[in-house]
Amino acid sequence: MHTGTTLTQFIIEEQRHIAGATGDFTALLNDLVTAIKVISNAVNKGALVGTMGALESQNVQGETQKKLDVITNDIMIRTNEWAGHLAGMASEEMDEVYPIPSRYPLGKYLLVFDPLDGSSNVDINISVGTIFSILRAPVPNRAAGEKDFLQPGTRQVCAGYALYGSSTMLVLTMGHGVNGFTLDREVGEFILTHRDMKIPADTKEFAINASNRRFWEPPVARYVEECLAGKEGPRGKDFNMRWVASMVAEVHRILTRGGVFMYPRDTKDPSKAGKLRLLYEANPMSMIVEQAGGASSTGYERILDMQPESLHQRVPVILGSKNEVETVVSYHRAEG
Ligand code: AHG
Ligand code: MN
Ligand code: MN
Repeated sequence: MHTGTTLTQFIIEEQRHIAGATGDFTALLNDLVTAIKVISNAVNKGALVGTMGALESQNVQGETQKKLDVITNDIMIRTNEWAGHLAGMASEEMDEVYPIPSRYPLGKYLLVFDPLDGSSNVDINISVGTIFSILRAPVPNRAAGEKDFLQPGTRQVCAGYALYGSSTMLVLTMGHGVNGFTLDREVGEFILTHRDMKIPADTKEFAINASNRRFWEPPVARYVEECLAGKEGPRGKDFNMRWVASMVAEVHRILTRGGVFMYPRDTKDPSKAGKLRLLYEANPMSMIVEQAGGASSTGYERILDMQPESLHQRVPVILGSKNEVETVVSYHRAEG
């Protein structure tokens, strides 16, 4: 029986094209994939195993943690800490860098992740995901500190997300295109189903949390206003709107049929530059989107060029179909 290309086969074949590759990276990705399968299972079991609902605790960003935020964070750590490929990990759910325990060898990569993105959606059975980014440790085989993680997104070796939706998918880039894999639960393998994913340059669909409207800056307000004006307005076409409140689901929709996603800077809380976090949300998603032919910006600059200042730094995010993102950016330029 022909099962199609498995993710493992795909990664090994990719690695063959890289001169001097040791197999370390392939092994790291394999562990990561195991973690994602375990998380997929945990998310899927839902209320059957009592993992729904919130905890009393808050994460470093002051957000109430869901039980599954903590469980999935733990799965990522336990599955990836032991093999000797990493010099450290960082996550949305941990205040500080997670040091690799001394009983395990250190490696040459750094792993950064949001173990459960869109977790406000788990209790209502709407899609959630995991986002990850792999960087090279500036000094291999030495315990990494916060500074080592503060690398611009252009330096990511690999970025990806898992989407726990009506099917579980893994979407991955290693810097030459984006490929999507679907989990075959009976076989236990991710199978290549979406080769070389591309985002159409034009779109008629936008995504933004419109309840923040009164806090938006003028360029974003102008853009949305013009979309809403439809055929009769300056854009001359009708737009459709979506808001899932799971970034992974929004980015996946955009990779599939185009669109623009915005969590812009607003005046709601002036101490926050945006809602989404640079290192484990904006950067990996921006790499994927750019690799699929789309664009990603804060409105003022390319996200992947930003020099991160701290582990949990927030940034405005405007990403998706290239021409549409450029329109929003041009409105920012016009205001500036
Ligand atoms: P997380 O669950 O990891 O904290 O992330 C949620 C993020 C993102 O996935 C989504 O786009 C956004 O927050 C939703 O925000 P609102 O609740 O403000 O709509
Ligand atoms: Mn998130
Ligand atoms: Mn999260």
